Amino acid sequence: MEVVILPGAKQIGALAADVVESLLARKADAVLGLATGSSPLPVYDELVRRHREQGLSFAGARVFTLDEYVGLAPDHPQSYREVIRRDFTDRMDLPADRVLCPDGAAQDLPAACLEYEAAIRSAGGVDVQLLGVGTDGHIGFNEPVSSLSSRTRIKTLLEQTRRDNSRFFGGLEHVPRHVVTQGLGTILEARHIVLVAAGARKAEAVHDFVEGPVAAICPASVLQLHPHVSVLVDAAAASALQLSEYYRHSYNGKPAWQGL
Ligand code: GLP
Repeated sequence: MEVVILPGAKQIGALAADVVESLLARKADAVLGLATGSSPLPVYDELVRRHREQGLSFAGARVFTLDEYVGLAPDHPQSYREVIRRDFTDRMDLPADRVLCPDGAAQDLPAACLEYEAAIRSAGGVDVQLLGVGTDGHIGFNEPVSSLSSRTRIKTLLEQTRRDNSRFFGGLEHVPRHVVTQGLGTILEARHIVLVAAGARKAEAVHDFVEGPVAAICPASVLQLHPHVSVLVDAAAASALQLSEYYRHSYNGKPAWQGL
């Protein structure tokens, strides 16, 4: 795991966008795993800027999103299918039929979860997976005590997560209780994982998953088992890390050709 402490969200967005851009340069039909939430927005804004100003193209790429609320209509403004469309894919040259999301409105949810896993497999797996992290250490919607080898499935949200996300719904009572999410085992199969986090409210979760034990109580800690994870954080999100000086020293001394 490589931890990169950056001055702010803009620099986090630029570095994560570099990873995506260099992937697309060597593989135009790359498979990207995208996350919703506010953390990846600077990455999406930067990719859109490069698309508009520098011709970065997503025309050959495919996208899989991580998770979805259960019970929202697919065109509900807070369904993650809509959120990723608004925040990113509609602003890029990415055909809508190349963006796949877990189906939280399916009649048969377990069958839809299996189909989603099969679709990721038949696309050849995810090349770069972008992640945020919840204040309780969740990734996707894998809440604490998720199995570390879980696959796409239904989960129940913690009240803390529902409260965190209530700002998007205009009140806690409107936040769904159930979700479908790629599992931790699914996420671990991505070839390169880039997790972005900013702000002091993420500091404890960042410390726990980077430096704490691998434990289901902090689902993101499973990333310690992955061979290629880049954690991009601002100083506030890094403020509880014990080895922050070491991370700064390692990144500053890294040869530029190495990339992330
Ligand atoms: C949601 C999403 C996660 C996201 C998390 C953090 O619960 N399911 O994928 O990482 O929120 O969101 P934010 O980046 O807005 O803090």
